[in-house]
Amino acid sequence: MTHIPAFAGAGNLIYRSSHVPQFVKAAGCYLQAADGRRYLDAEAANGTAAFGYDSSLLREALSHCEEMPGLPSFCESPLRLDVLSRLEPLFSQAVGQPGRVELDLGGAQGMETALRIAFSNNGPGTIVVFEGAFHGRSGITSMLSSSPRYRELLAAWGLEVVRLPTPDCDRCVHRQPDVPGCTTGCRQAVTRWGAELSGVGGTGFGRKVSAFVFESVQNVGGMAVPDADLLRSAVAHAKANGALVIADEIFTGMHRTGPRWGFQRAGVSPDIVVASKALTNGAAALSAVWAREPLADPGTYRPGSHSSTYIGIPHSLGVARAVLDRWAAWPEVEADMRVLEEAMAHRLDTLRRRHPELILGTDAFGGTARIVLNGPHAPELRRLCLTAHESLGLIVASTGMAPDVINIHPPLVITPSDLDVMIEVLEAALTALAPTVDGGQR
Ligand SMILES: Cc1ncc(COP(=O)(O)O)c(C=O)c1O
Repeated sequence: MTHIPAFAGAGNLIYRSSHVPQFVKAAGCYLQAADGRRYLDAEAANGTAAFGYDSSLLREALSHCEEMPGLPSFCESPLRLDVLSRLEPLFSQAVGQPGRVELDLGGAQGMETALRIAFSNNGPGTIVVFEGAFHGRSGITSMLSSSPRYRELLAAWGLEVVRLPTPDCDRCVHRQPDVPGCTTGCRQAVTRWGAELSGVGGTGFGRKVSAFVFESVQNVGGMAVPDADLLRSAVAHAKANGALVIADEIFTGMHRTGPRWGFQRAGVSPDIVVASKALTNGAAALSAVWAREPLADPGTYRPGSHSSTYIGIPHSLGVARAVLDRWAAWPEVEADMRVLEEAMAHRLDTLRRRHPELILGTDAFGGTARIVLNGPHAPELRRLCLTAHESLGLIVASTGMAPDVINIHPPLVITPSDLDVMIEVLEAALTALAPTVDGGQR
């Protein structure tokens, strides 16, 4: 059992693992622990640190706000307006409609604000999500997230949430061995709600579905890419039944999976989009909620519907502005993400062929990849990545919802030679894992 300091909150995710390095500094894709050991970060602070670790970002951020007062939450500023005016086109250009942007504190809070906007238009009805979803751990969002673990201590019991079958074809128990992708039956399963027998209201009923919420890649659900046809059917069905479509782009947004937004991969058009992680590179708690006009106009979503003391603090806005500058200065990012995808796919496939007894498959999409193991070994493999190599640790992710999957989402600026280093450490970790696994099954 990890030594948890007597004064530290024991429930923190940090203490889930038995190996807890204490990081003191970082540069590029590498972190350094207090004991001097270096770690290559293939997790990028949960996908936030798209640009890696670069202290000049904070200096730049402060230059935008050092003269400003700690902004009271009810006051406007040129800096806030500048950030909003630069965020809005990032969404409307992709969706093809104008909209409005609201800021919030983090991912879960942003999702709740998205629901506020949906409810202010549609009334507080049912919410439909996919199995495997993760939308945060606040009271409301823990109801949307799949694992019951998230609801054990805090949840908005009473909120009606309906789960559609998993969109992760590769790991779906209904998958037909010789049929690639989802079948007609799968599409029917995600478009049945709203009919008499489904138990869920739709156009013909007073109690309706207010919102359909999806991730374009389920990060916590095991880096699962929804079948594009299935997602398109689910979105079209939601719209036909008057539900607002909310894209949770907290993890997938800003090129993490290739295009600026993950929903562009499947060619669907959400009504509301929530973004967060890569908007601040992990240097400030901020999320942005975009809603197409007129969903968040003052007639429907009235001034005063939303507030929180720290939403507009200048240092967060300064970070957002500095990060938006970085994104604007990276014009070939989509092409670069295709190169990164290819570089990860190729290397991981080689690793799979060297360890067929442990690895069932590998995928890469944009700056995101996964290793699917032949059993629930991801927590142990993740630990071995930190410790197995003599001179370097590797940080990868695994989640309670997908214990057979290693999630990889490095800084998007990772170089081919860093990817070689990543494979070298994974190789050492897999070699250490092999003798402990007795042909475990999924
Ligand atoms: C897809 C998705 N939605 C929501 C969240 C919650 O964001 P936060 O941890 O900032 O509340 C996360 C965080 O990992 C996420 O990946």
